[in-house]
Amino acid sequence: MKKTIAVIRGDGIGPEIVEEAIGVLDAVALRFGHTFFYRETPMGGCAIDASGVPLPEESLKTCLAADSVLLGAVGGPKWDGVPPEIRPERGLLRLRGAMKLYANLRPARIFPQLFSACPLREDIAAKGIDFLMVRELIGGVYFGNHSTELRDGEQTATDVMSYSEHEIRRIARVAFRLARERRRRVTSVDKANVLDTSRLWRRIIEETAAEYPEVELRHMYVDNCSMQLIRDPSQFDVIVTENLFGDILSDEASQITGSIGMIPSASLGEGSRGLYEPIHGSAPDIAGQDKANPIGTILAAAMMLRHSFGLPAEADAVERAVERVLEAGYRCGDIARSGERPVGCRKMGRLIRKALTSED
Ligand code: IPM
Ligand code: MG
Repeated sequence: MKKTIAVIRGDGIGPEIVEEAIGVLDAVALRFGHTFFYRETPMGGCAIDASGVPLPEESLKTCLAADSVLLGAVGGPKWDGVPPEIRPERGLLRLRGAMKLYANLRPARIFPQLFSACPLREDIAAKGIDFLMVRELIGGVYFGNHSTELRDGEQTATDVMSYSEHEIRRIARVAFRLARERRRRVTSVDKANVLDTSRLWRRIIEETAAEYPEVELRHMYVDNCSMQLIRDPSQFDVIVTENLFGDILSDEASQITGSIGMIPSASLGEGSRGLYEPIHGSAPDIAGQDKANPIGTILAAAMMLRHSFGLPAEADAVERAVERVLEAGYRCGDIARSGERPVGCRKMGRLIRKALTSED
């Protein structure tokens, strides 16, 4: 198989973690006889520095022409002062919008090797954590109108949150389809006791559920969900929710599984092309010091193999390689226990490549 992958290294630790993910993809190519072409393209703060905008037209074109996109992370304090319309994050949102990637999948699973990194009580962690967050990605308040104006002598800011039926229906279908291949339980998270968008959300989710009678549906308010994730995360299989709730809950979900550094994400639309990235940010405080954990990005590359390229055996092999390295006791700084000596980003990448290549 020959595939072209657009590569956005981005800012902060982005370049280092992407380097290791590419190394792993190359090891997959070698072992399974595929060819991956990489097209590097700038986005985020580095693009602002070079050309004044976070997502240059050329970069967008490169992404739209590729079979998939691999992304590190964008942003950092250096660009905190730039006008909101050219912030690095805007580049990412524009890319998600332009590629019509409405479904963001964030698997939260605790590796048995990392039980001790889980901040929850042992008896809670022991029940297991393995759920999938399905976040609507190109609607809601992120994509509504934003404005700040002078009203009655004071600054007033407005962000509009809206959802239409088709936006809810298509993300609901993704969640139900994925649940069918898992434990067949969907929890739809909303704030239907307060928000109109949530009341519509609930109605359309229920309508869509009728198409999937084998999947059990329940609704949960977002405030309760944030509590339940800590009280008993084993109750969740697939969680489907709108953009902002999903952003917040997925950070919480990542933390209970040990570290935000471990969680990959896939953003998908109608076709097979997707955008794959870790869910963490650019961590400027440790950038360039070989301290970042590349596992989230490497697992994102595995998701690309599975969801965009239809290569489940290859994806499994990458995931197994990660587990074997964890099994052997290697940890990056974010998941190391006190007293354990962490390995750097490059070494972690090397170990995973080796595990992948030496597997019999
Ligand atoms: C994420 C990030 C982004 C988001 C930011 C960088 C715009 O937090 O992917 O979760 O809020 O969607
Ligand atoms: Mg986020």
